[in-house]
Amino acid sequence: MTHEVHSLRQQFPMFSGPNPPAYLDNAASSQKPRRVIDRIQRYYEKEHCNVHRGVYKLAEQATSLFEDTRKNVASFIGGVDPREVIFTSGTTEGINLVANTWGDTHVQAGDEILLSISEHHSNIVPWHILAKKKGATVKFIPLDENLRLDWEEAQKLISRRTKIVALAHVSNVLGIIHPVKKLVELARSVGAVSVIDGAQAVPHFDVSMKDLACDFYAFSSHKMCGPTGMGVLYGRQELLDAMPPYKGGGEMIAKVTIEGASWAELPHKFEAGTPHVAGVIGLGEAIDFLRSFDRKAAFASDLALGKQCFEGLKGRKKIQVFLQDVNDWVGILSFHHTSIHPHDIAHVLDADNVCVRAGHHCAQPLLRSLNVAATTRVSPYIYNNESDLQKFFEGLEKAEKLFAK
Ligand code: ALA
Repeated sequence: MTHEVHSLRQQFPMFSGPNPPAYLDNAASSQKPRRVIDRIQRYYEKEHCNVHRGVYKLAEQATSLFEDTRKNVASFIGGVDPREVIFTSGTTEGINLVANTWGDTHVQAGDEILLSISEHHSNIVPWHILAKKKGATVKFIPLDENLRLDWEEAQKLISRRTKIVALAHVSNVLGIIHPVKKLVELARSVGAVSVIDGAQAVPHFDVSMKDLACDFYAFSSHKMCGPTGMGVLYGRQELLDAMPPYKGGGEMIAKVTIEGASWAELPHKFEAGTPHVAGVIGLGEAIDFLRSFDRKAAFASDLALGKQCFEGLKGRKKIQVFLQDVNDWVGILSFHHTSIHPHDIAHVLDADNVCVRAGHHCAQPLLRSLNVAATTRVSPYIYNNESDLQKFFEGLEKAEKLFAK
């Protein structure tokens, strides 16, 4: 174990004490470091207040903490204007927000929405709902034989009818990093807006909105060491300004009369009701935590575990790892066992306190295109070590013995 992983791991209460879990389900949610847990506790014990409302010191302090975190997020994603940072409950809400506001205003009958086949349901279903409502069509870019976005098909599928191009930065099933920048440029060339699902990217590497030049980018706090129920939607100011609100309620208005209402300025127009203040402050602490170590070294370490897993599985009889290579990848590995159901593998592993995800991973179109109904998925993160991987392989061997025919 490198010094880096060892010292990071020590900061997570989940891994202290006897028999800590070999937690290899980080693509579903990461564990939380002590400082994030403590920060949220301190907020509730001594700093809790509603924000943007009270005029007393405690309330003003909560508002400052809340808005300072927005600045922190804005700087973390490449130095955008804080007004372009909308707090949401997670990636799913961010994408639904865009579908229900920009999409509802701009998509018309006959228009097209272009996705990839490898999207998570949260980047498919909102577009299906919108398309059905508007008489538009959702189209899917397939993957090539190497499981990378089929660029030739992407170019054929996009046209002036395309109004939205929505793509995951990183696939939650395969872990491959999609060529987002290239696709954003392609979308722009036909006048379409780009919506990027960054849920599996932001936990692993730095992202810059300026570099990607996308229109919208959504991500979740809980996969990057922060609290659950918290997320961020970045949107280009000019687009956000022109969009109608998503939800109506307190603090998102400029004025309300009995005849109607007008909207607050950005970002508040999109943040109706009492926000998840503890979630925002916890997310800020998670960002400070991620900035407190060499992220590239930590990523290299979890990628190295992913590669070991790939190498250890790919030659095995009865196991199909779908990837041919592990270039442009974050270490998330799905595999199919020809004679053991993924749920059985996951249950046998669980008996030895090894956590992996089994199922369709909310990506049924992708799994169908891979000709499987479910896979077992291993997803290492910054605090995993070789012993976690060893426990995984031992558990897999147990499962193979138990289910041997
Ligand atoms: N989106 C999460 C996953 O892939 C829940 O597991």
